[in-house]
Amino acid sequence: MRNFKRHLVTSALPYANGPLHIGHLAGAYLPADIYVRFLRLMGKDVGFICGSDEHGAAITIRAAKDEKTPQEIVDRYHEMFKDTFEKVGISFDMYHRTSSELHHQTSQDFFRTLNTNGEFVEKESEQYYDEEANQFLADRYIKGTCPKCAHEEAYGDQCENCGSALSPTELINPLSTITGNVPVLKKTTHWFLPLDKYEMWLKEWIETGKLDGKELHNPDDWKNHVLGQCKSWIEGGLHPRAMTRDLSWGVDVPKEIEGSEGKKLYVWLDAPIGYISATKQWAQDTGKEWKEYWQDEETQLVHFIGKDNIVFHCLIFPAILRAHGDYILPHNVPANQFLNLEGKKISTSRNWAVWVHEFVNEMPEHIDALRYAMVKNMPEIKDSEFTWKGFQDYNNNELVNNLANYVNRVVVLVNKYYEGKVPDFDENQDLVGVLGEVETSYHDSELLSLFDKLHVYCDHVRSYDFRSAMNTVMDISSNGNQILQFNEPWKRIKEDEESVKAVMNLSLQYVTALSVAIKPFMPESSDKIRKLLNLPLVEEKGELLSLLDDLAEGNHLIQKDHQISTSDHLFSRIDDEIIEGQVAKLTAMSAAAVGAAATLEKPEEKENIAFDEFMKMEIKTATILTAEKVKKADKLLKLTIDLGYEQRTVVSGIAEHFSPEEVIGKKVSLLANLAPRKIRGVESQGMILMAEGENGQLGFVSPEDGWPNGMSIK
Ligand code: MF3
Ligand code: ZN
Repeated sequence: MRNFKRHLVTSALPYANGPLHIGHLAGAYLPADIYVRFLRLMGKDVGFICGSDEHGAAITIRAAKDEKTPQEIVDRYHEMFKDTFEKVGISFDMYHRTSSELHHQTSQDFFRTLNTNGEFVEKESEQYYDEEANQFLADRYIKGTCPKCAHEEAYGDQCENCGSALSPTELINPLSTITGNVPVLKKTTHWFLPLDKYEMWLKEWIETGKLDGKELHNPDDWKNHVLGQCKSWIEGGLHPRAMTRDLSWGVDVPKEIEGSEGKKLYVWLDAPIGYISATKQWAQDTGKEWKEYWQDEETQLVHFIGKDNIVFHCLIFPAILRAHGDYILPHNVPANQFLNLEGKKISTSRNWAVWVHEFVNEMPEHIDALRYAMVKNMPEIKDSEFTWKGFQDYNNNELVNNLANYVNRVVVLVNKYYEGKVPDFDENQDLVGVLGEVETSYHDSELLSLFDKLHVYCDHVRSYDFRSAMNTVMDISSNGNQILQFNEPWKRIKEDEESVKAVMNLSLQYVTALSVAIKPFMPESSDKIRKLLNLPLVEEKGELLSLLDDLAEGNHLIQKDHQISTSDHLFSRIDDEIIEGQVAKLTAMSAAAVGAAATLEKPEEKENIAFDEFMKMEIKTATILTAEKVKKADKLLKLTIDLGYEQRTVVSGIAEHFSPEEVIGKKVSLLANLAPRKIRGVESQGMILMAEGENGQLGFVSPEDGWPNGMSIK
């Protein structure tokens, strides 16, 4: 890869219309964070940019559903995102928002330039319109069957199943998502970007990485699935795409442009420009020059996104940037595929998700473990899967048993043998390392192997293979553990104190290297290890670069006689109950969401009754005092019921659903004036009211806590 002067790294701006789940985290945010932290560790000049995507139908539809204004919706989620990202350690340099004044200006300026340059084609065309809602239907306001993959829930601008970018008129069986009506066609004028005009250069750029005879990137460095989606889209032929919408929420088409009234910028024009406005804000706040990051070929621009955003970042936004003329194009777009959860697709509507804001509040001590598990399951080249059991295993077997155990052993032994001081040693110790006996001293040869491993790690990060990078770091820890295992300082200390010094010094070099190398993946754990070592925290200001330089020059990473601290735990085990609780919560939340959304068939109705007939019933609040099974009757329980003013015996057919122990103490509603009848020889003096569901599930109609017995229900 070229050696860039600076880097601008972006993560997809999340729609501020609902919380973030772990799929978002693993897709666009954590990988970007790892990449950026790594670059900073290598002393690079880097800006890490994101913000909330606050326009478009995603927002207004949500606002209508919640009976809130769009502003209320975006304010709520913008704050929530900022907080959540901070808690999971996503280290944006700027987290901005597209509703800001600066962004409105920036995107309007952009539009002006494109308009002045004659890049748009203004066209009257027929667009779908909902006559009941009096609204044009674009983007998420219209749904239908995807012409490419037959997915039935494709939106007007995009199919989230296959990633295709669509136009409403391409949908099969289009329906308004506002009213469910079949839309009609109505004329309206919009500004179109003639993508067909750019087809030639886009194809060349995607396929060869070259433009105007310059080699901008090597397509071999791009992920196959990213290239595949782009190529298939280009093969399908590019068409002019409307860059404006008839909407009330969004960035206005600049007022001075004729015909601008009632027109807003298309959200997929405005949102990516959000990367630029956020960069401006960051530059303003920190005294940098924003243009260097967007308009200088010495800058590496990298967009981290999920696969549903590929065509927008690889074709449409580059087309927009080049149509403007002043901007560089992305050097890579390492999009990720989707993360599934416990065998199913993550789904917001079915509430089948692990919500990041809930995780950070429920398990704040396991955030690094979540990051670790996300990297282990990162959907880098194909869809992958998160399970709670897997999460527990990664934590307990790898983080606790390997990494924490290793660091802990080293710290404990150094405290025990040397009162916490890094021991000096005789270079010529003749020890057996994992590499076997070698010509250089044992200590040096192990440090060389550490150096090699760190290089492998760097190469993996540079090629966006974060799982391999992290596995390499964990190998360093396993390796360190083996060094202890082979040399058994706890035995040797009695016979050969000198050689133990060499082993323990080496182990401290390893732990120091780990404290730097794990920073991109598990930043908090890096801090904890640094505290154990009593070294300054890793601030991501070139520490990995100087560490590699030190190793190359044969310097030590932690100096002899340096005083370290005493042991403290790095990772704690996660017990079965926690995991079972999370799985149960997932199932329950999803069942509730699905139940709420399911439409029941209308049951058969009974004949009407007169009000007087109803008033004849005497229904009372009561409590079950005793319960026992009725002999030879599987379905029956014999109950004593307290009405406050008297007690009754009631025989109830609920024994297959409830055990006697379960019902004792239950508050119930009793039909008290049902004529007494004998059931299995017992006189039943009333009937307990039960609610019965479609599938035969039973529940008590219970008065609220605190209500006394004997109240009348009417
Ligand atoms: N909000 C979009 C989504 O969640 C992503 C926008 S990315 C940007 O799918 F480039 F437009 F900013
Ligand atoms: Zn599709």
